[in-house]
Amino acid sequence: MYNNATTGETPGWRYKAPPQLSEQQFERWQTLLERRTGISFSLHKSILQAGLYRRMYEIGSEDYEAYFDSVQDGAAGFLEWGELLNRITVQETRFFRDMAAFEFLDGYLLQRMEELKHRGDTLELWSAGCASGEEAWSLAMQARSCIEQQSEPMYYGVIGTDISNAALTTARQAEYREKQLVNLKPRLRSGNLESLDSDRCRITEALADRVCFVQSNLVSAEELLGIDMDVIFCQNVLIYFRQSSKYKVLDCLVDHLKPGGMLVVGQGESVGWTHESVSRVRSGQLEAYIRQ
Ligand SMILES: C[S@@+](CC[C@H](N)C(=O)[O-])C[C@H]1O[C@@H](n2cnc3c(N)ncnc32)[C@H](O)[C@@H]1O
Repeated sequence: MYNNATTGETPGWRYKAPPQLSEQQFERWQTLLERRTGISFSLHKSILQAGLYRRMYEIGSEDYEAYFDSVQDGAAGFLEWGELLNRITVQETRFFRDMAAFEFLDGYLLQRMEELKHRGDTLELWSAGCASGEEAWSLAMQARSCIEQQSEPMYYGVIGTDISNAALTTARQAEYREKQLVNLKPRLRSGNLESLDSDRCRITEALADRVCFVQSNLVSAEELLGIDMDVIFCQNVLIYFRQSSKYKVLDCLVDHLKPGGMLVVGQGESVGWTHESVSRVRSGQLEAYIRQ
């Protein structure tokens, strides 16, 4: 988009088509992005081109080659890479997005908490690829609600991770508009959300105390969390990965489950994947696995 004040047209914003990404440039960009993030644009050249140019336009660059070099150039390149990721990752999300998965989670948590109580263990949940936080907050609300049904209190913690620091900033702000809360059962609002005005609300301190957001890349095993989890939700993230990278991430996530812990992915995201340490949950369309 640019403000065309010289052509005599009514000044204003109008669309400016991105310069054409050559096959060679496409190959270099696609390879770099996939190696660093797992996200494959191999079948989506125009989406990659539009995403790259969105950022290049902001910084006044018209040259895919020069921009390619700049994102790999030292500390400045590191920061610019983060900016680019914020623009090319799909960050669509919702509270309780996959209702069937959350309904299954409810029953699972009640049973799991009995086991943890006997072991004197705490309840740990992870939203991997949490975008602006809605999935992590949903997990926290669900865990809190299950714990409140118990006779004894239990410690729980939720971690939300994402590769995009802009998404994590929104998640940490913990403020949402009323229209974003349509999936929320009224009983889950109480104690978890407070109104700021007629249109906006904020996560309460009581819930926020149990949730933290950390930048982490699912394709870099060394960046993954060092603690084992009872529940991992990784939904609508691996959909953009090639099958081999997807399977690698799923294997890594299994390594981060406690025995008896549950991994939940989005529909169709684990097709063809098997792992000797997990068994598939049989419940409708749910793609969930329990670690032996
Ligand atoms: C469509 S959102 C899904 C959000 C949430 N899980 C849900 O289902 O509503 C996908 C998120 O995955 C993140 N993501 C993509 N590649 C990633 C990677 N390699 N490591 C961590 N997060 C990644 C993106 O930044 C984005 O926020």
